[in-house]
Amino acid sequence: MQDQIRFMKDAVPFLLGWYGAAKRELPWRGTRDPYEILVSEIMLQQTRVEAVKGYYARFLEKFPTAEALAAADEEEVLKAWEGLGYYSRARNLHRAARIIAERGFPTSPKEVRALPGVGDYTAGAVCSIAFSLPCPAVDGNVLRILTRLFADGRNIDDGATRASFSALLQSVYPPEAGEFCQALMELGAIVCLPNGDPLCGECPWRELCRAHALGREGEFPVRAEKKERKIVPLDVFVFERGGTYALRKRDKRGLLAGLWEFPNAAAGETNLEGRTIAAQKRAIHIFTHVEWRMTGYLVRGDAEGFGGLVWASAEEIRTRYALPAAFRAFTNWLS
Ligand code: ADE
Repeated sequence: MQDQIRFMKDAVPFLLGWYGAAKRELPWRGTRDPYEILVSEIMLQQTRVEAVKGYYARFLEKFPTAEALAAADEEEVLKAWEGLGYYSRARNLHRAARIIAERGFPTSPKEVRALPGVGDYTAGAVCSIAFSLPCPAVDGNVLRILTRLFADGRNIDDGATRASFSALLQSVYPPEAGEFCQALMELGAIVCLPNGDPLCGECPWRELCRAHALGREGEFPVRAEKKERKIVPLDVFVFERGGTYALRKRDKRGLLAGLWEFPNAAAGETNLEGRTIAAQKRAIHIFTHVEWRMTGYLVRGDAEGFGGLVWASAEEIRTRYALPAAFRAFTNWLS
């Protein structure tokens, strides 16, 4: 470990120099406001930078402070999150805002980590960026960089591997904590790319990287085998009655909990005999562990056989009901 610490301490200035010159201008990089940083980090969990940019600006326009978010109702928050996915993030952020509005933004890493929806990574990022604290944020990108740097073949899905890299980073944190944290993220995002495609020619650590010296970049990181996604064939019904469309609320638990959906059922389970089918199309939506293979039907008339429905106009669906991205494959039928 001592060797690694010394090695990293020498390596850090190269990274910071590179980051200063190469970093992308991103909307959350101009602020140190902890609430704004928290919003960006929650949105960036499992979601790409490009997808987050627009949402971040619109969300902060609508909810510029933790107090404003705390005062909103949940449907409004979910609507602002619509299409970003992983909706429990929105609910947790809403709960976190209520805590922050009441007690102020927590200042210790332990209290930040205790906010709803905040894990080690997000707590590390917020504390590094907003408070300049030496709190590492170690995700898959950082693990990829470090396992390549050290040609380290340990399984990165093993908590012990993550813990040991986290400890290493903690002991080499420079005073520019936020810059260091984001420099690692940036290196993983634009240079030290996954699979066999890293852009080593542009890397500030190319002279130091063991995997690069061995020509074995593509062999790191080593990880446990992924479980295959479950395939779920579904029929999705857009029932139209006098310019309104049937929606129902999903179960409070599980995938897309509590969001709105078009009525749907396992493929082939619903009898549409005698119904007027105005349009039909297939769509696929991929979640982390499940893949929906959907056949959508635009059906004129009542939604027989489905309960718990509300009937909403296209305008209401656009502005009031949080309809997850999976169902947007069929919203061009609404008028
Ligand atoms: N991914 C997670 N946090 C990020 C940040 N602050 N900037 C860029 N990408 C990120």
